[in-house]
Amino acid sequence: MQAQTFKVRVHALREEAHGVRSFSVSRLDGLPFDAYEPGAHIDVTSPSGITRQYSLCGDPACRDSHVFAVKKEEQSRGGSRSLHDEVGVGSELSIGAPRNLFRLEESASEHILIGAGIGITPLLSMAYRLVAIDASFTLHYFARSDTHAAFLPLLARAPFDRHVRLHFGVERDALANELDACLRDADRHAHVYTCGPAPFMDVVIDTARKRLPADAVHLERFKAEPQALTDSSLDSFDVQLASTGQTVRVDASTSIVDALASIGIEVDTSCGEGVCGTCMVDVVSGEPEHRDHCLSKAERASNSVICCCVSRSRSPVLVLDL
Ligand code: FES
Repeated sequence: MQAQTFKVRVHALREEAHGVRSFSVSRLDGLPFDAYEPGAHIDVTSPSGITRQYSLCGDPACRDSHVFAVKKEEQSRGGSRSLHDEVGVGSELSIGAPRNLFRLEESASEHILIGAGIGITPLLSMAYRLVAIDASFTLHYFARSDTHAAFLPLLARAPFDRHVRLHFGVERDALANELDACLRDADRHAHVYTCGPAPFMDVVIDTARKRLPADAVHLERFKAEPQALTDSSLDSFDVQLASTGQTVRVDASTSIVDALASIGIEVDTSCGEGVCGTCMVDVVSGEPEHRDHCLSKAERASNSVICCCVSRSRSPVLVLDL
């Protein structure tokens, strides 16, 4: 179950904002990339060997290159720091195929994109697509200041300029009002998409859900938030392989991924935190305890898939399509 990977070469680097650098990469074999959906992300393995997920932020119609942007995190364990410090034009990297958990609902009457900081990245690929299909949209971009806002020259020119609203230096206690103003005139069939720090997105979601149905509000998380176990979580349960009937015990200190690995079944993983969706497996029977941050509401309700890196079971046996 190894995910598809590509060897790529960096052919352009740009400083997009304070501590934010964009990387434009092309395949080493010279072939074009497959088309991808706006909002998609890729795994990028830095020279340190650490793999992280980054949203694609270029034009999804452009097959010659992929563009992603990386914020240098002060607390970086090697991923963003290595990409900033050890990668230059001509460097070779390994990347994964695009995966999308943050889809545009193209049939919506209006699209309201609300990003903060590095959260602009998936919204930018959506903006390219919305321009291409001549959709009605507004991109609200929140940042501490103009030096902290990425891609400003791009956003300030056609075709984006007439869709972009910049919000710099909004204080935390003024955020809800500012967001409410962004959404005040939204069409009742509009969809909202948000990406940024978790506390920012929480305010966007609260504000948007007062005006729009829950399924019209979409978000992309970069990091997992800690979650408490619910009363219905089981300390231990069995996972059964649908193909062979083989069963393995998953105890309180083991993930499903690790338990499966102990019997020689490798489930591909990337983030290990329930945000990227790499470890998704179909559920044949049983009731998952969803502890991820990437499945849609419908996927959770159907219990048809599970993210094996973090999720657990509410039923004594979970049968997976393996
Ligand atoms: S590995 Fe990323 S969601 Fe499980």
